[in-house]
Amino acid sequence: MTEGAKQYEGRRIHPDRLRRFSVRVMERCDLSRSQAEETAEVLVAADAWGVFTHGTRQLVPLMNNVRQGAIDAKASPQVISAEGGCALVDGRNAMPMVSSRLAMRTAIGLAREAGAAYAGVRHSNHFGAAGYYAMMAAEAKMIGIAMSNVDVCMSVPGAAGPVIGTNPIAYAVPAGRENPVFLDIATSVVAVSKVFSAKASGQPIPPGWLVNEEGHSSTDPNDYPEHATILPMAGHKGYGIALLIEVLSGVLTGSSFLGGIKRWVDDDPLPADQGHAFLAIDIERLMPLASFTERMEAMVSEVRSARKAGASGRIFLPGEMEWDRRSEAYRNGLALPDFVIENLVRVARDTDSTGALDFAFDIRKPQ
Ligand SMILES: NC(=O)c1ccc[n+]([C@@H]2O[C@H](COP(=O)([O-])OP(=O)(O)OC[C@H]3O[C@@H](n4cnc5c(N)ncnc54)[C@H](O)[C@@H]3O)[C@@H](O)[C@H]2O)c1
Repeated sequence: MTEGAKQYEGRRIHPDRLRRFSVRVMERCDLSRSQAEETAEVLVAADAWGVFTHGTRQLVPLMNNVRQGAIDAKASPQVISAEGGCALVDGRNAMPMVSSRLAMRTAIGLAREAGAAYAGVRHSNHFGAAGYYAMMAAEAKMIGIAMSNVDVCMSVPGAAGPVIGTNPIAYAVPAGRENPVFLDIATSVVAVSKVFSAKASGQPIPPGWLVNEEGHSSTDPNDYPEHATILPMAGHKGYGIALLIEVLSGVLTGSSFLGGIKRWVDDDPLPADQGHAFLAIDIERLMPLASFTERMEAMVSEVRSARKAGASGRIFLPGEMEWDRRSEAYRNGLALPDFVIENLVRVARDTDSTGALDFAFDIRKPQ
């Protein structure tokens, strides 16, 4: 750990304080208060779920994109069309979280009228954890699905290098007295950020994540991306689903797809031009919400009570680990991993916000 980060080691930070710090950082980079708040909301939600690779750690590359001009801090996304069950949003290279929230809000609004709706986003950037947007629909008592295309970095069966992105997909389903059932995954074996985290912490990665040009598995995260490529989850099945996401997010929205997408972490002013897709299904159109959630509770209970294998004492529903971590974060504060703290220290220094970070960690009062 660097000297600057050491003082925060072992300290917990409340999600609300982390959100306020993030807003300050983004305002210092010329974002409006409302855009900064929307973005912070998405990033801190990911941290609270324990998805640290896609939380406030992303402030460093996002603000770098703003400084370089690849994200336009002054732009606002625009709904180009919204009728029947279809909407299209032009992200205008604005903050991707703002465009994505607008698109899911639009999909939810249309689904109330039409029963179900799709909202696509074009000309966007890295939207973070897909699950946040799926959850917006679940909070509105709908079934939500969120996805995005991503710059090419994943191999496909038969290829010697990267062909497609690790295109993430998430769904969220209201489940009555249970927390929403909520899956949020990359279509690769793991999200690329996990390879970078292993690289940063000097840890090897498990076999089966990376494949080199000779087709052999690599456990050295330093091989990525120059000498090895990440594999799709479940072979051809993950590849096939990633391709559907590419169609719904990139081809259908008029955004870039596959090799047309620029790597958002590159240090240049070219927009990433990613596309996203959001779907909302209004449950009430098919059955009363109470009947649906009762059926969901029954489904959850049947899964949970299945016979456990070996020493396994618990079967988790998708999202259950995240809900557990979230309640712990709000009860006792977030225990951020070192790589997140390092990133917060860096972005605090870059934006003259070190005092605000001290305050967020409760080290000293703001001046
Ligand atoms: N914006 C982007 O460009 C981009 C690209 C790729 C991934 N991502 C994000 O990266 C994050 C992590 O992706 P990942 O593929 O590494 O996720 P992961 O492999 O950690 O899987 C997480 C999901 O699996 C569920 N899960 C885990 N173990 C479970 C178990 N035993 N039983 C039931 N459910 C279980 C979790 O509840 C969660 O929904 C996601 O938030 C994703 O949206 C974003």
